[in-house]
Amino acid sequence: MKLLILGFCLFGMVTAEMKECKGVLFESEQYMCCNGVIGHRPPCGTTSDHQCCRDQPFNSRNFLCCNGNLDKRMAASPENDKCCGEFGFDNTSHMCCTGIIHRRPDEGAADNHKCCKNVAMSNLSQKCVNGHVVPKY
Ligand SMILES: *[C@@H]1O[C@H](CO)[C@@H](O)[C@H](O)[C@H]1NC(C)=O
Ligand SMILES: *[C@@H]1O[C@H](CO)[C@@H](O)[C@H](O)[C@H]1NC(C)=O
Repeated sequence: MKLLILGFCLFGMVTAEMKECKGVLFESEQYMCCNGVIGHRPPCGTTSDHQCCRDQPFNSRNFLCCNGNLDKRMAASPENDKCCGEFGFDNTSHMCCTGIIHRRPDEGAADNHKCCKNVAMSNLSQKCVNGHVVPKY
């Protein structure tokens, strides 16, 4: 009986892939190493979705890591989820001006949307003069 249990445990240890985290061995199916810290993998997603936000494991399919802060993805397409400082935003509807998230101006397309210091403007009818938005004409 003892031998059987031992055999089972050895088998289990052989199949689970062990990895090293700062010199400490861990089982890599359930755990992962982030910044030298062993943490539980997120409950969902595949191994490639599992990433590190500083020392915290997270599912990159649903979350975005912005300067060490986790934020929920919002955009219809993952490449449009961008960080503005510590916060995530959808770059199709919003823009980031020196750390402040703004709705994009109604006028023009993304190419026309500019930051004037921390304010969003459209270069079609506005310009930025000494850090102030002024009408163009
Ligand atoms: C957001 O979208 C604009 C226009 O498509 C692009 O030029 C810009 O680089 C994007 N911003 C970021 C932070 O990727
Ligand atoms: C607005 O900015 C875009 C991209 O930088 C530029 O190509 C375009 O000529 C500008 N439009 C006007 C009206 O200034």
